[in-house]
This record gives sequence, C-alpha cells and structure tokens, in this order.
Amino acid sequence: MTSGPAPQVECDVLILSAFEGGEELPPPAAAVDQATGGGLSALMSREKFEGKASQIAEFTPGDAVAAHKVFVIGLGKQDECDLDTVLKATAAAIKKAAGISAGKVAIAPACSFGGKCGCGPMAEAIVSVSLLAGYKFVAHKTEDPKPNSIETIELLAACKASEADMLAGIDRGKVMAEAVCFARDLTNTPANIATPEYLADQARRIADDTGLSTTILGPAEMAEMDMNLVLAVACGSDREPRFIALKYEAAGAAKTVAIVGKGLTFDAGGLCLKPGRYMDSMKTDMAGAGSVLAAIKAIAALKPDVNVLCLIPATENMPGGNALKPGDIVKAFSGKSVEINDTDAEGRLILADAVAYAEREKVDEIIDIATLTGACEVALGKNVAGLMATDQGMIEKLIAAGKAGGEKLWQLPLEPEYEETLSSDIADMKNYAPEAGAITAAQFIKKHINGTAWAHIDIAGPSYGESPYMSAKGATGFGVYTLVNYITNGA
Ligand code: BES
Ligand code: MN
Ligand code: ZN
Repeated sequence: MTSGPAPQVECDVLILSAFEGGEELPPPAAAVDQATGGGLSALMSREKFEGKASQIAEFTPGDAVAAHKVFVIGLGKQDECDLDTVLKATAAAIKKAAGISAGKVAIAPACSFGGKCGCGPMAEAIVSVSLLAGYKFVAHKTEDPKPNSIETIELLAACKASEADMLAGIDRGKVMAEAVCFARDLTNTPANIATPEYLADQARRIADDTGLSTTILGPAEMAEMDMNLVLAVACGSDREPRFIALKYEAAGAAKTVAIVGKGLTFDAGGLCLKPGRYMDSMKTDMAGAGSVLAAIKAIAALKPDVNVLCLIPATENMPGGNALKPGDIVKAFSGKSVEINDTDAEGRLILADAVAYAEREKVDEIIDIATLTGACEVALGKNVAGLMATDQGMIEKLIAAGKAGGEKLWQLPLEPEYEETLSSDIADMKNYAPEAGAITAAQFIKKHINGTAWAHIDIAGPSYGESPYMSAKGATGFGVYTLVNYITNGA
C-alpha cells in the first residue's frame, strides 16, 4: 500500500476509476488530470468514455506522471455501484495490464461505492480479484508459454481515515485469493492424480500446517460404522474411498457448523455409464471438496469465533465388476434403506452418509456443497448456484455471504410433493426421480437428516468453465467465498 499522490506513483500501469455522470473525477483521477494539464479528461471525452460499467480508457500520460500508462475503468453510476461492478472492472483492467506485459501495477480504489465508504471490503476485493485474475493451472506444464508478467500490485490509500481498514482488507484479500487458487488447483488436478487418498493427503497437510485436528477413515473403518452408501459408490472402483474430517475449534465458540463437500474424484456414472461428452469434465466432480478444504484453510488463518467441522466423502464412481447395480438396496449410515435406481445419481448417496455423520457429531448447522445435478446447471446456468435449505435464516445469510464475494446463489423450493417421487416400493426411498432434478437430489439428502438445520448448494454450473469475474479457464473455486464469509460473519 502507498499513500503517495497518484501522479507520483512509479509503475507500469496505474488503474484509476470514474463514475458515470459524475460531475467531478474521483480524487486520484482528478490529480492525474491536473498534472497532465487536463490531458486525461480530454482523452476521456475524445474516446467517449462516460464511466459506464465495463468501459476502459487507456491514457499515455507523459512525463508529468510517474506511471507509464494509465487505465481508467468505468464503474457505472456512483449510487448504483456495488462490489460486483468493481470486481469485474478491476479484473478486466488487470488482464489488460498483463496483456501489455506490465510488471508493476498500481490501483487507486474508489473508496466510496453504493453511496458509502467501504475501504476495507474494497481493498479486500481488489487484492483478491487482482491475484485471481492471473490464475493459470500450470502445475503440469514443463514450460509456461506465457508466464504472468505482473510482479507487484500496489494499492493507493483511498482515504486517510481508513488506512487500518485497508491494511486488514489487503491481508484478508490475500488469504482469500490463496484459498480460491488452492480450490482451483485441486479441482483442475486430474483424477489419476487427485484420488481419494490425494484429498486425504491434502487434508493432513492442512492439519499439519494449521494445527487443526483430522480424522481419515478407510474402507474397513467405514464398513464398521455402516457408512454403506459411500462404500456402495466406491464398489465399482479399484481405488479405495476415504472419509475425511477436519476440525477447526475456536475458544468460546457458541456454535459448530459442518461444511460438507462432495469429493467424487471421477464420475464415470457407474454402470449407468455417462456418454463420453458428459464424462470429460468429470474430474471436477470433487469441486465441492475443493471448496470446503480451501474454506477451512482460510478459516484457520482468519480465526473466526465459530467451530467448523469439514467433512468429505471421497470416492470414484466407476463401472467395475463389483459395481453397484440398478435395483440394489443399501442401508445408509442414517439407518434408512435406499433402492438404487440410477448409479449416476451417486453424489447424493455419499453426501447422505456425510450429513448423517455430521448430525451424529451434534453440529448446529450443516451446509453441503456439491456438483450435484446437470439439472441445476440447466436451470441456472454457469453464473449462479442453486441453494436449498430447511432453514430460511441460513438461506438469507448464505446469499449475503456469497454476494460479498461475487458468488451468486439462487433459492429453489423444497416442494414437499416432489419429495414423494423418491418413494420406493421395496425400500425407504429411491435415489433418483425424473423431474425437478436439482430439488429431488437435495430432498434425497434431506431425508438422512433428523432435524438439524441444513442448507445445500448445487455448484454443478459455476464450479467449472469461465468464472464470471476472473474468467479463469477450468475450475473457479466457487463456494470458498460463500462459506468463509458465512462463517466469519458469525454463521
Ligand atoms: N456429477 C454429476 C452432476 C454434474 C453434471 C456436475 C454436469 C457437473 C456438470 C452427477 O453425479 C450426475 O451424474 N448427475 C446426474 C443425475 C441424474 C442421473 C439423476 C445428472 O445430473 O445427469
Ligand atoms: Mn453422477
Ligand atoms: Zn457426480
């Protein structure tokens, strides 16, 4: 962070912002305009830059300004501007700076948005989005064809009163960006490397680094506990499943929240085999596990006043000789019996055992996050996750927690009549119903919980593809922000 005046900040690219219809430029842009004898405002009017959201003006300021280049990003109307707008505009400017091989970038944040000063959250958002904008998955390239040019990102103090807020925001932004990158790396790692045991190793490493406690169960222990749905899904694979538990404990915490992530390291569909074009992204079927592992890593650093139990049922879903067959009946950890009528509806099976385990651990709330249904992606597309819960208070808080980190969640109804479509003639329930796919999948999980407040986030759409802000190719790390904000807001 620097408190020097904008025109004197030495850098390759200086990123300033302007609002639409603003009578005056925000102070950093005004200072640059003054130093260049009105050069900046002349360029803005010449290029018809009106400050609309997503507009960028590029200015070469000359000797009066220490920066080689100045980018002005439009943030739309000042009273309508929210974090979302700032995130998108900043990410675009950072990418543009990387595009011209900038090494040193400085950003003057607009400290007031939506009519109020928000230096802390603004600094956090700018730091994290700037770090994430350069994300690439290069772990398996022997040579990076185009390494990220940006070496440093400097933030200009926005208003003197809030320097401490900004510093705290910068620290948190770094923790969050690191966590999101960790989730992306895990999810991008292919299934021949990111196996159930690999996820267990990651959990052990987090526990070693942070002092969290960890329990990892193999198939024999799971059999002893009757965690049969996880074992049933694992039957078709030569790889052993793992059940991973990591616990963060805060002194004096009044509440324990379980965060449960689907850790399906490869979903071939089992005997109800997926066609190839649906299978080729299925290494990402453990994105939920990636998000909860990354979230607890960030939580261990941010130290909120809430206990967190992170649970991951981890397995492959393969069509091996011992595979689960349509028609099989399996007794769940919850004690209920399940008729398997579709082996590709496996996520709900492993989550059912995991949420039932969470309830046995007497947690106060359970949040599961999973790449659960193609139906949810069809309904809400790539930018928005489905959200369902038995507790409306959790819904509101989760939506707000996501919004503060640029993650959009949309509530779907747990319509009681739809739940009846899961009834079976020969067992307590079936695992698949043909209609309202995202909802009935959630309702299947709900049947294994006995009253504990529960929320379910279906990230089949937003977990993978082009992330809305960072346009990272591949895994997005969606969910890390929602979970961490939810818990650090006091849950
Ligand atoms: N992992 C998939 C869901 C999925 C689909 C995630 C697309 C990401 C992108 C899940 O296990 C699955 O196979 N769901 C089936 C359920 C169906 C058989 C009831 C689906 O959505 O087609
Ligand atoms: Mn499946
Ligand atoms: Zn799956």
